[in-house]
Amino acid sequence: MPTWVVVIFTIIGGAAALKILHALAIVVVHPITQGAMYTSTGRVKIRKALDAVTMKPGELLVDIGCGDGRVLRAARKRYGVSCLGFEINPIAFTKARLLTMGRKGVEIRCRNFWKADLGHADIVSCYLFPDVMRRLGAKLAKELASGARVISFNFPIPGWKHEAVLRADSKLHNDPIYIYRIPDSLSVGFQKTSIQSPEPQ
Ligand SMILES: C[S@@+](CC[C@H](N)C(=O)[O-])C[C@H]1O[C@@H](n2cnc3c(N)ncnc32)[C@H](O)[C@@H]1O
Repeated sequence: MPTWVVVIFTIIGGAAALKILHALAIVVVHPITQGAMYTSTGRVKIRKALDAVTMKPGELLVDIGCGDGRVLRAARKRYGVSCLGFEINPIAFTKARLLTMGRKGVEIRCRNFWKADLGHADIVSCYLFPDVMRRLGAKLAKELASGARVISFNFPIPGWKHEAVLRADSKLHNDPIYIYRIPDSLSVGFQKTSIQSPEPQ
């Protein structure tokens, strides 16, 4: 068989194997992610969010379900904030770790964010799934301090009042970006004294 045929088959086989691994990883973590599967936010949307939510060095940005860590890398580069990402999908986690290797101020943990206390975050960013947003609202309302901000790509937090809804100037990436602030975004049902975290759906 000519060498070029072997090379082409190796490339196609490798790409197919990667796709299968990617799909398998999504299936395996589904009981935890509950539909928030690994896909990345468009860079134009990240830029739009970072234009609106300014940050200061010394503040902590936490991306809950950080995928390949692109939100964290962009925020670190632009504002010099400390960044922490939680990622449960092994492929996304590995990619995020590789892409942030040697970068100071960006930490990626292979951990279920539902089990983490987010109380130290000054800014939380997420791109999850509608099924988990109510539960997330309860968790954030309970744990975040006054003044903390939340950036939610694509999906609103039910019962919260957004400070702004942004859309990137792009036909392809113009899903909404919701911006919230504690405590102004918390409505009566979410006031800090009466929080009951609903069970996972
Ligand atoms: C739609 S992706 C968003 C990735 C990244 N935040 C971005 O905007 O590009 C959602 C990610 O959240 C992760 N995820 C969902 N639930 C999680 C959990 N409980 N703990 C850690 N990661 C989670 C998924 O594995 C997936 O990679």
